[in-house]
Amino acid sequence: MIESIKRFVGGENKTRQNKEELLAAIKRAPLPKHVAIITDGNGRWAKKRGLPRTAGHAAGMKRVRETIRAADELGIQVLTFYSFSTENWKRPKDEVDYLMKLPIEFLKTDLQELIDRNVKVQMLGEKSQTPSQTQMALTEFEEKTKHNTGLILNFAINYGSRDEIVRAVRQIIDEVKKGNIDKDEVNEEVISRHLLTRGLPDPDLVIRTSGELRISNFLLWQLAYSELWFTDTLWPDFTPELFYQAIEDFQHRSRRYGAV
Ligand code: FPP
Repeated sequence: MIESIKRFVGGENKTRQNKEELLAAIKRAPLPKHVAIITDGNGRWAKKRGLPRTAGHAAGMKRVRETIRAADELGIQVLTFYSFSTENWKRPKDEVDYLMKLPIEFLKTDLQELIDRNVKVQMLGEKSQTPSQTQMALTEFEEKTKHNTGLILNFAINYGSRDEIVRAVRQIIDEVKKGNIDKDEVNEEVISRHLLTRGLPDPDLVIRTSGELRISNFLLWQLAYSELWFTDTLWPDFTPELFYQAIEDFQHRSRRYGAV
């Protein structure tokens, strides 16, 4: 089943194995402006090796770093990772604690490189509900990179798209009540402006690893016309080569936005 769906939606391109060939091919065609990634499969990767789930997240972190470097070097404008959903709080406490410590670790190991690369780090999600040390790390990332003008790197942490839409609707209702905007002026642009992704282009390409074929409450409004690319590869095995393959497949899609 998944193989046929993969053929339909893209999947891995087996014909071009060589990294340099792939890179050269990608650079000849327009790049997606915004790539969003659902990094799934860390737990299964660890289980297959008899390791605790947290080992999968540690291995996944390395792939996050490699993918940031690959996106930056290609000249992608926006890269978004779905790192922790509002539903992920239901996981065992030790796993949640571990995931909440990842940004603190990442700050120590990667902040300087991100600054050197001119990357601007932003958060999507309710930061205030994360532990105080995590909040401090996330705020430090945002503060120390806020004037950077290169790749925009979003981490969706404690993020849920329906929640984001509910909050946007409430804000718009408030503005209508205050008379700042007329009800009839509420349109797609106004809604987009009230979402956490305000000011960013919608994702052109969404990658999901681990063979799951779902969106899982991720950027529901923003993905209306995104191209979806699925792979069976578990996130801790996701290489820059696979990232390039996803982009190359994207470049061969025909995006019609409902037209013919
Ligand atoms: C999904 O795999 C993965 C996560 C919930 C966590 C992803 C987080 C990272 C890759 C690191 C993020 C980095 C920062 C700095 C925030 P899963 O646990 O659902 O895997 P499974 O489906 O195999 O159980």
